[in-house]
Amino acid sequence: MELDWGLGEYEGTGEVLLPVSEVVVGMCEPLAGKRVVDLGSGTGNAALLAAERGAVVTGVDPAKRLVEVARKRAAERGLQAEFLVGDAGSIPVEDGAADLLLSVFAVIFAPDARAAIAEMTRVTAPDGVIRLTSWVPGGSMMAINQVAGKFMGEVFGGGPADPASPKPLAWHDEAALREAFAPHGFSVELERHSISLTAASPEEYLEKSAQHPMAVSSAQALAARPDGEALQADLTQRLLVAVRELNEDPAAFKVSNDYAVVTARR
Ligand SMILES: C[S@@+](CC[C@H](N)C(=O)[O-])C[C@H]1O[C@@H](n2cnc3c(N)ncnc32)[C@H](O)[C@@H]1O
Repeated sequence: MELDWGLGEYEGTGEVLLPVSEVVVGMCEPLAGKRVVDLGSGTGNAALLAAERGAVVTGVDPAKRLVEVARKRAAERGLQAEFLVGDAGSIPVEDGAADLLLSVFAVIFAPDARAAIAEMTRVTAPDGVIRLTSWVPGGSMMAINQVAGKFMGEVFGGGPADPASPKPLAWHDEAALREAFAPHGFSVELERHSISLTAASPEEYLEKSAQHPMAVSSAQALAARPDGEALQADLTQRLLVAVRELNEDPAAFKVSNDYAVVTARR
């Protein structure tokens, strides 16, 4: 089942990831008058930055609660931006309606990557640009996520991949992206960047990240088990070991990860 990113409190993570939207939107200037679609807009980070720069913005996100949050943030700042409930498999926007299609750590979560790419290329104008970001494996942020993913796999059983499921896409891999975009007549370029995340201590980081939609969803699944409390305690302990080991700042807490900014155009 797909994760509802409206669960818990994505807002805190949204603030942490704002610098990525600043990088991406900065790469797209000038934006005045451009039609921008922010796919997987979350709390509206990239969408609102683009609106501030004079773009005509539509944010799209499957999480109804986050769409409401983004609308409220736009209203609070007096910005014109439309936010719609929708997802990458069927973007609620007409063909060719985006001069710029942005997706900051969002389309990478679509269950059918190739269907999402077909949709993104459909809504992008003939001279338009697609710019998305994806995590590069190997960093400490990804390593922490993998601890939780591995634990949930152990508890609920990963099982062999269903051959009928869409093939996953390595969204950080230039060759894989070129192959996926090529049938739509798009070429692809990649730029590598890095982001760090800080906290007062590993324990504070863990406490905050317990509100992340993925952590809340895992906690709900574990709580439904008869041994749920013990399982949750085990997961928390494993995460604590991992965040302490991966911490890059002995005086407080810091983890870093590379990400790719992918630009696709015809
Ligand atoms: C890590 S958040 C990023 C949000 C925002 N772009 C930001 O930078 O803060 C991932 C977002 O992708 C959205 N998302 C998940 N699956 C999606 C899909 N299939 N199509 C479009 N967006 C999706 C989630 O609802 C969530 O808002």
